[in-house]
Amino acid sequence: MTLDERLQNVAVLGAGGKMGSGITLLLAREMTLLKLRAGGSPRLFAMDVRPEALDGLRQYLSGQARKFAQKNSETLKDLLGTDDVDQLAARFEQELLSVLEPVTSLEAVSPARMVFEAILENVDLKVKVFSQLRDLCSEDTFFFSNTSSIPIGLLNERAGLGGRLVGFHFYNPPAVQKLVELILPAQVHPELPELCQALARRLGKIVIPSNDVAGFIGNGHFMRDGLHAIQEAERLQKEGFSFQQSIYMMNRVAQDFLIRPMGIFQLMDYVGLDVFQSILAIMNPHFPEENLHSELIDGLVSRGVKG
Ligand SMILES: NC(=O)c1ccc[n+]([C@@H]2O[C@H](COP(=O)([O-])OP(=O)(O)OC[C@H]3O[C@@H](n4cnc5c(N)ncnc54)[C@H](O)[C@@H]3O)[C@@H](O)[C@H]2O)c1
Repeated sequence: MTLDERLQNVAVLGAGGKMGSGITLLLAREMTLLKLRAGGSPRLFAMDVRPEALDGLRQYLSGQARKFAQKNSETLKDLLGTDDVDQLAARFEQELLSVLEPVTSLEAVSPARMVFEAILENVDLKVKVFSQLRDLCSEDTFFFSNTSSIPIGLLNERAGLGGRLVGFHFYNPPAVQKLVELILPAQVHPELPELCQALARRLGKIVIPSNDVAGFIGNGHFMRDGLHAIQEAERLQKEGFSFQQSIYMMNRVAQDFLIRPMGIFQLMDYVGLDVFQSILAIMNPHFPEENLHSELIDGLVSRGVKG
C-alpha cells in the first residue's frame, strides 16, 4: 500500500491533547491537499476520551486552516477555484473540516491504515490501547507512537504488534518544530523505514534517527541536563545563595552558554514538572547505574506544583 493510499484513512489518538492537536493539524492539512489534488475522500479520525477537548480541536483546526490558506494562497488558488483570499480561506477551512471525524471510541478508528498515538505517557495504558488496536485494525495497519521515553521494542512486544509500531516523536509544538525523532525497533516491518522517511518529507519534517533506548535523544539529554542543573542549584544553596537565586543562576547559565531560547528550568516549567517526573520514572529502571530521579521534583509535584 502506498503512502497516498494510507493517507486515505488515518487516526490520531489523544487528538485533543497538546501534542495530538498539533499532529492532527499536520495530517489534516496534508490529507486536505491530497483530496484537492487527487480527489477521493480521506478520513482523519480524531480520537480522544474527552469530548470537550475535541470541540476545542475543531476550533483550533478552523483557525489554523484559514491562516494556512491565507499564507499559501498562490498555491491554493487553482485547487480551490478562486483567488479571493477570504473565499479561499473559507473554502480550505470547509475542506479541511470535512476530512475530520472526531470520535471518542477506539472502535471507531478501526478503518485507519496509519494510527498516530499521543495519549498519556503511561506504559500500561499505551500497551492496553495498542493491544486493543491490534485486534480492531487491519493487519496491514501501521502505528506511530509519540512516546517521549518508552522503548518502542517494549511496546511492540507487549502489544504483540510484530514490528508494525515505530516511534515517530514530534517535538512541541508539532506544527512548528522541524525535527522528528524516528525510532525503529530491532524487529521492524520492512516497509516502515522508507514509509516513515516519505511521511516526514510530506509533513515538512527532518528525521533524526534515534536508537531505541528509553528517553531517545531529546529526552535523554533533557532529563540528564535537568538533573545536573538541579544538583548544581543545590550546591549553590550550600554556598549561601537562596533557592530562587540558585535556580535563576543555573537557568541563565543554561540559556546563555548553550545559546538556547529557554533556560533549563524554563523548559522544565514549559513541559511540566509532572511530565518531567514521569519521564524520569520511566527511564530510571533502564539505567540502574545512573539514579535518574530528583527529590526536589518529587516534593514539588506532590504539593501540586507543575511549573
Ligand atoms: N508535551 C510535550 O512537550 C511532549 C513532547 C513530545 C512528546 N510528548 C508525548 O506525547 C504524548 C502526549 O503528551 P501531551 O503532552 O500531548 O499530553 P496531553 O495530556 O496534553 O494529551 C493527552 C491526551 O490524551 C487523551 N487520552 C488519555 N487517555 C486516552 C485514551 N485511552 N484514548 C484516547 N485519548 C486518551 C487525553 O484526554 C488528552 O487529550 C505523551 O506520550 C508525551 O510523552 C509530549
